[in-house]
Amino acid sequence: MSYEPRIVGFLCNWCAYSAADLAGMSRISYPSTIRIVRLMCSGRVDPVIVVDTLAKGADGVLIAGCRPGDCHYLEGNLNAEVKIKMLKRLIAKTGFNPDRLRLEWIPASGGNLFAEVVTNFTNQLSSLGPSPLAGDNPDQSILERLMAVRDTVADVRLRELVGKERQVTEKENMYGERILAEEFERRLNGYIDDEFERHIILRLVKDQPSSIKDLSERLKLSPDKVLRHISVMRRKNLVAVNSIEGRSPLYTALEVG
Ligand code: FES
Repeated sequence: MSYEPRIVGFLCNWCAYSAADLAGMSRISYPSTIRIVRLMCSGRVDPVIVVDTLAKGADGVLIAGCRPGDCHYLEGNLNAEVKIKMLKRLIAKTGFNPDRLRLEWIPASGGNLFAEVVTNFTNQLSSLGPSPLAGDNPDQSILERLMAVRDTVADVRLRELVGKERQVTEKENMYGERILAEEFERRLNGYIDDEFERHIILRLVKDQPSSIKDLSERLKLSPDKVLRHISVMRRKNLVAVNSIEGRSPLYTALEVG
């Protein structure tokens, strides 16, 4: 049976959307695989909505904005770039192919470029095959992990950190200090990894009270690391001991609110 990818495109009003419009008016042909959502700026794309779109079975998500230097809101496109980089890194941990998410810069005059981007992305998705989350039987293990990505990117502190990346790596603070981009990225990645692992643990213990050993085996993390995550989560009142099995405490998620 032939398969036609379904792409959701989040396009900025000023550049990529105008390019799509131009492609239509100029009758430039490209596959009818894309459904377009118009935004004022690519920087407005919320990673939570991107995850939801993929979780609902879209085969690919295209985010397209103005070229660097052309954003009508100055740095919206650069912020989008940081967010999408973080999102692709997290998605790669779920078993879902991060190449299904693409970021492109398309100027308003780029009708041909828009058609080319959609054609290339369609071809790439055709060779990947349907999303493992499409259809009536989505891959539950990928979906569960993708939902942990959703929880992670919804985190207010993480959003604040990601939003500050360019600010703290490109400008000096009041003491004349500047954090190297590599150092910031290293710390940010460590924070993201920890948050993602904790959100997975939270989802697992919500379904079934589990011991450190169970969690360590299921997540393929060392028992020490799981214990450290559980300690942090207990301090935040996210998990508690549910019962004791043998000599091992079983942890469960606490209802919030
Ligand atoms: Fe187009 Fe910001 S206005 S990316």
